[in-house]
Amino acid sequence: DATDQPYRTGYHFQPRRNWMNDPNGPMYYNGVYHLFYQYNPYGAVWGNIVWAHSVSYDLINWVNLEDAIYPTGPFDVNGCWSGSVTLLPGDKPAIFYAGIDLKNRQVQNIALPKNTSDPLLREWVKSPHNPLITPPNETDPNFFRDPTTAWQGEDMAWRLLVGSQIKGQGTAILYKSIDFIRWRMIGSLFNSMAETDMWECPDFYPVSTRSRNSLETSDQGELTKHVLKASFNHHDYYVLGNYKTKTDRFSVENDFTLSSSGLRYDYGKYYASKTFYDSAKKRRILWGWINESDSKAFDNKKGWSGLQSIPRSVLLTETGKQLVQWPIKEMEKLRAKEVTTLSKDLKGGSVVEVSGITAAQADVKVSFKITDIAKAETIDHNSVDPQLLCSSKTASVRGKLGPFGLLALASEDLKEQTAIYFHVLKKHGKFVVLMCSDQSRSSLTGGLDKTNYGGFVDMDPRHEKISLRSSIDHSIVESFGGEGKTCITARVYPSLAVGNRARLYVFNNGTVGVKISRLSAWSMRNAQIAPISKRRKPK
Ligand code: FRU
Repeated sequence: DATDQPYRTGYHFQPRRNWMNDPNGPMYYNGVYHLFYQYNPYGAVWGNIVWAHSVSYDLINWVNLEDAIYPTGPFDVNGCWSGSVTLLPGDKPAIFYAGIDLKNRQVQNIALPKNTSDPLLREWVKSPHNPLITPPNETDPNFFRDPTTAWQGEDMAWRLLVGSQIKGQGTAILYKSIDFIRWRMIGSLFNSMAETDMWECPDFYPVSTRSRNSLETSDQGELTKHVLKASFNHHDYYVLGNYKTKTDRFSVENDFTLSSSGLRYDYGKYYASKTFYDSAKKRRILWGWINESDSKAFDNKKGWSGLQSIPRSVLLTETGKQLVQWPIKEMEKLRAKEVTTLSKDLKGGSVVEVSGITAAQADVKVSFKITDIAKAETIDHNSVDPQLLCSSKTASVRGKLGPFGLLALASEDLKEQTAIYFHVLKKHGKFVVLMCSDQSRSSLTGGLDKTNYGGFVDMDPRHEKISLRSSIDHSIVESFGGEGKTCITARVYPSLAVGNRARLYVFNNGTVGVKISRLSAWSMRNAQIAPISKRRKPK
């Protein structure tokens, strides 16, 4: 049975078997959360793509339903690729998705629920008008997909974006419609300067600059900024800017930055994400696809591939310069046994076990206080790419103020360990905090992608504690630095640190001591992910 394997997760969303990629059309409707996703019903590698469908009352426990969207007509015979849901007036959900048509062109289609009074929206009917949008002349028909959630402007017309690439530059093309059936091309919303792969799965939504409340996708006004996210070159990049529906102009504050010093949702493995507005809890929730880092042969053997990240709530930071992400509150319902340590010195060169919890399936929060900042090592101003810094400053390289952090999924002899850690460094007379996730010793098994990841955390280590939360789940470690300012997700496949042989440690491989202000770790229970027949009534 594919569900009884060491690398299956306990509380991340994954189907019982086969291939999964992008989250599609997430929504909250009529008391129920829906998640659709790119799925291969016939195998553990990409192909035969349909929209699988699961529903939940809490975004943690799921019921799997039958596939919602699968090839039926000339407009999608060759695949039903990514897309989004828009809630139309009267609370009518509409799915917009990319179909691969008879000629293998990418076209945009609509599907509507067969019966909106079915609380689970199990059956979807495709529009007789499909395809609604076909590739414009100037774009390659292979680079025209992944429609966004639509938003309504002051003129009441609907807008949406389609991901594309024109002349070697990724772009998102804006379309407009009055009736949601006939769509008119307006042009590129924004082009970054850099040459990139095509922009997959664009996302475009407002964030409030004033409150911790989130905004519905069509909300606009003075106290908002807009986020444009695009997936390309293996990462999810975003920019912040100002958008007015009157002119449909989006003026950005920053350009897409390809190096890991720029803004990304996550500096590790994280792709093709999508947000939705949760009207029940007035928050915006982000889902992202976490790929495997093993080989196709291994995926076939396991019989599955791909995870969804823990749903994260997204907000703008108080400075307004970037987003913060945090695992949704509901995840904490799965916390079981807790161990806590307060105010403890962590001497240079020490490794201390956090025992008493299930280390392979755990949630950990730790905050560090720097007591001797003057000892921070100076780095030369040319080495500004954090991922590169993390590749040389690995967890096993002795530093000064760092590396300190957690050793997750570690074996007792520490031969296997996934290290998530910080370095406090001095650059141009300023203190900077580098966050790394080091997979280089995550497994004794060969043939795995063990790339190290890194990002800077925008904070002042002289006045603020450096915090880390890591959600550990057998083959995934999702880490949140600086209360969610810098996120790094890693996939690892330990050979020794498996199940109850896995350990958790807090370590300091610098020469300078730091203080643990607080460390709390919890064993995590399993989420229930069951087929419809085994459904239990919600409590
Ligand atoms: C992103 C992506 C999308 C596409 C889908 C196909 O991972 O390539 O652009 O619609 O996956 O499964």
